[in-house]
Amino acid sequence: MILVTGATGFIASHTIVELQNNGFDIVGIDNLCNSSVSVLDNIQKITGKKIEFSNIDIRDKDALKNFLSGYKIDTCIHFAGLKAVGESVAKPVEYYDNNISGTISLLKVLNEIGCKNIIFSSSATVYGIPAFVPITEECPKGICTNPYGWTKHMIEQILVDTQKANPDMNIVILRYFNPVGAHPSGLIGENPNGIPNNLMPYITQVACGKREKLFVYGNDYDTPDGTGVRDYIHVVDLARGHVCAMSAIDKKCGLEIFNLGTGHGYSVLDVINTFEKVNNIKIPYEITARRPGDIAMCYANPEKAKRVLGWVAEHSLDDMCRDSWNYQNNLNV
Ligand code: NAD
Ligand code: UD1
Repeated sequence: MILVTGATGFIASHTIVELQNNGFDIVGIDNLCNSSVSVLDNIQKITGKKIEFSNIDIRDKDALKNFLSGYKIDTCIHFAGLKAVGESVAKPVEYYDNNISGTISLLKVLNEIGCKNIIFSSSATVYGIPAFVPITEECPKGICTNPYGWTKHMIEQILVDTQKANPDMNIVILRYFNPVGAHPSGLIGENPNGIPNNLMPYITQVACGKREKLFVYGNDYDTPDGTGVRDYIHVVDLARGHVCAMSAIDKKCGLEIFNLGTGHGYSVLDVINTFEKVNNIKIPYEITARRPGDIAMCYANPEKAKRVLGWVAEHSLDDMCRDSWNYQNNLNV
């Protein structure tokens, strides 16, 4: 059985769908600080399968152990964490406590229940200002510009040291690039609280009239059209990456790190133009100053995931824009 932490969140919910469709049994936990329990019903509508679930904070070691002692957990896929960059700058202690203390508490319980396999949600943010693009896994980790990024950086180190000390453990670190899109059913997707920080949810909220216009943060970067370039990846492709990572666990991989990206970089203007084209809707925008901490260009070399896991991203930017808008529309009905 697979334990999924942060089970009702954006990426975990899509991953559970792919895992269930591949025959895995799931037990999920989440403290619901950034998601709703209703996500579980929507997952069940898609897969027709139930998920064992409990509302637990990963920092609550006793509750976690109590709940998990009823199951035979072989692998933990660890998504639970806080992820808002700006908020992490304002509330660093909360972020270090939630993400790092939470992971340590989880690792202790996994050790006590004999679970030796872990897949962890890391981020391309650990590369800081990347030394080169496209970014391979060998690219040196950089200086993070915010506490959120440091939590990913530090948790990676904790996992590396844990695996080194316990060579019978298998730990896969997945560095996600920019997850967007939603399940094509429109039943699950990303629904951020308050003003969205990230580009795609902001665009969908402009498209539905919730916000007046998009602010494009800078058009004077050293990129083809001057706006920031990122590797947007459809969340369903990302979710499938976790199913493929299970095969590495099965082969007793020890410690492995993979980039999960498409290998293509798109600018902010590319995303706006594609969104307008596939959804036949206008996105008013205004060019404003650069956002502090932003980098010019970030995109993956995903060759290692292809070679070792047999994983490649299949969805296009058109699909990402269509599915994001489809989900936003479902929210509004
Ligand atoms: P999300 O906020 O939708 O999901 C995270 C889930 O974890 C939420 O449901 C939240 O309620 C839960 N959670 C948070 N703290 C918890 C705690 N202490 N105990 C139990 N549950 C807790 O975010 P997401 O986009 O699905 O991200 C999932 C993971 O992937 C996170 O670790 C995030 O940092 C990482 N990641 C996300 C992105 C991205 O752009 N979305 C990029 C790179 C990495
Ligand atoms: C952000 C986080 C990063 C995290 C990643 C996950 C910051 C500084 N970084 O990265 O740590 O791992 O999300 O997805 O927040 N943009 C606009 N207008 C907007 C929003 C964004 O022009 O309203 C631009 C940005 O300048 C950037 C691109 O769109 O060039 C993508 O931004 P965003 O979706 O926030 O992702 P990242 O900055 O790559």
